[in-house]
Amino acid sequence: MAVMDEKRRAAEAALAHVTDGMTLGVGTGSTVEIFIDLLTEKMAADKMSLVCVPSSFATGHRLRAAGFRVECLTSISTLPLAIDGADEVDSHLALIKGGGAALLREKIIAEAAQEFIVIVDQGKLVSRLGVKMPVPVEVIPPALSLSLERIRELGGTPKVRQAHLKAGPVITDNGNFILDVTFPEITDASQLDSYLITIPGVLETGLFPHQASSVYVGTDSDVKRLVK
Ligand code: A5P
Repeated sequence: MAVMDEKRRAAEAALAHVTDGMTLGVGTGSTVEIFIDLLTEKMAADKMSLVCVPSSFATGHRLRAAGFRVECLTSISTLPLAIDGADEVDSHLALIKGGGAALLREKIIAEAAQEFIVIVDQGKLVSRLGVKMPVPVEVIPPALSLSLERIRELGGTPKVRQAHLKAGPVITDNGNFILDVTFPEITDASQLDSYLITIPGVLETGLFPHQASSVYVGTDSDVKRLVK
């Protein structure tokens, strides 16, 4: 599939930034899964060793299965490099993330990273955040009603994300709900992020206005690098 080739090209390009002995933050999603597969091959071929810090149970499981040493986020305050996917990328490298419901740990990793490299297929590029994806918001269960009301007051239309293989809502790795919030227009992602975060019980949003250092975009024949 063409889009998988695009993801692979972006993942391959990011591989060159990984060096022997480093502690690497690893995000979540299908592009990151490809990256982990490529990284596994590179580790074996170059006889490198790494410590990986995953942003989700899913990524941690995949890394362990591939033989990587995995360290818990709890003990990490800084990382030289982290690599992750995204759901939307605008021309200023602002992102929407959280399609895989891992946004809270992803943001901790992105903030801890000295360099945060994003890998996407070209379908993720947007003229403005929010045109294709709602903004995911992680909310603790007791704050559900309050946060729904406050988000509506901000002009958003929230929906509680529903699970596919179980009845009821998606439960994140942290035991919380995800609200997918559509806004008529996102003109200032930083400001919107700040407003949402002030709602009691909102833990994190999928708006990443400034975290990305660079973005590799896989196209149908090539990969391009977007830098701030
Ligand atoms: C996970 O919560 C997300 O932030 C992912 O990074 C994002 O959804 C990109 O996923 P894909 O690589 O599967 O498109």
